Amino acid sequence: MSYNMKRRSFITKTGVAGAGLIGVAGAWTSWDLIQPLPTSGFGGKVRTVPESAVPDKGVLEVPAARAYLGKDPDGNIVAYSEKCTHLGCRVPFCDSSSRFECPCHGSVFNQSGDYIKGPAPRGMDQYPVELGEDGLLYIDTGSRMDGPAPGTFVLDEPATGPACEAEGH
Ligand code: FES
Repeated sequence: MSYNMKRRSFITKTGVAGAGLIGVAGAWTSWDLIQPLPTSGFGGKVRTVPESAVPDKGVLEVPAARAYLGKDPDGNIVAYSEKCTHLGCRVPFCDSSSRFECPCHGSVFNQSGDYIKGPAPRGMDQYPVELGEDGLLYIDTGSRMDGPAPGTFVLDEPATGPACEAEGH
């Protein structure tokens, strides 16, 4: 076999191998693109913090999930939607009263999201929370659950201090 024949054969084989590699890389990339992302923004599962970062009293705001993480009286971690069940205003948590107080029309919810007063039709809505393999909590913001009906209490506790919002909304 001549030198030119060997060279041509080598180039052909290298070209086929290269094309094969490009094909595999392309297929890999395409497969990667169509896979669902393990995390996403609001509307999907939002990666948050380790369980140890959730306070025993009070709540931790998670802006990316538009939610708060807190604990129920049994120590279970719960995610509360920050959207008021009345007309959807963002409901801040008041540290002095340990209650969620809506600034729009005066609805108030206790630390467990139970309805206390105001025009809201129910307690604060919740999202499922799961522990990921990475040790972080994930809030599934695509699966909102209606809050408890008025008169249903997970936590039966008076306000711990003065309200943040003025009365009489
Ligand atoms: S939106 Fe919260 S009380 Fe109306």
